[in-house]
Amino acid sequence: MSDSFMNDWVYTDTVKEHFMNPKNILNDPDYQDDGRGMVGSMACGDQMLVVIKVENDRIADCKWKTYGCASAIASTSMMSEMAAGMTLDEAYNLTPQMITDALGGLPQHKFHCSVLGDKALRAAIDDYLERVGRENPFKKKIAKIVCECKGITDQQIEALVKAGTVDTLEQLQQETGLGTVCGKCKSLAEEMVEEFRHIYGRE
Ligand code: FES
Repeated sequence: MSDSFMNDWVYTDTVKEHFMNPKNILNDPDYQDDGRGMVGSMACGDQMLVVIKVENDRIADCKWKTYGCASAIASTSMMSEMAAGMTLDEAYNLTPQMITDALGGLPQHKFHCSVLGDKALRAAIDDYLERVGRENPFKKKIAKIVCECKGITDQQIEALVKAGTVDTLEQLQQETGLGTVCGKCKSLAEEMVEEFRHIYGRE
């Protein structure tokens, strides 16, 4: 990369360091994972794979691979370092904001790139719990109400988009009644449908 490219860089030094020297990249094809999560879409060029090893309900190791942009690489690198040693509960509740804060911030329009890593980590934990035949005790805790009038949560929206039942706000309204009372939740819900479509490769 040219010097002028690096001088024009709008990211923090921490982002730059994690992009130039990403930590915990998965490059062993025989890696024996206890759980794996894949999100994103190859069509958008930002598919993300996260694999974990679990010991005593803690993340013993977290590796990843992505075709994403610089922000996705830096934020997943940071996330993999933060996740190692966390309990499953803590790791499940790792938010894009926490990762972004640890990076010293990301340009606003790049924030969505950091959501892929934590989604993939959650998917890997889901996979682990499924493999060992355990209920997922963490899911309910992170549900947030999006439509107060109808009590529709972000997790319900996510599940409907993931299942392919919902691709648009209109379909979401038909399925759940979201946004049909005061309507103030509609623009947020529409953004979430877009985001989840992106994450689950439905575009
Ligand atoms: S908050 Fe969704 S319709 Fe009122």
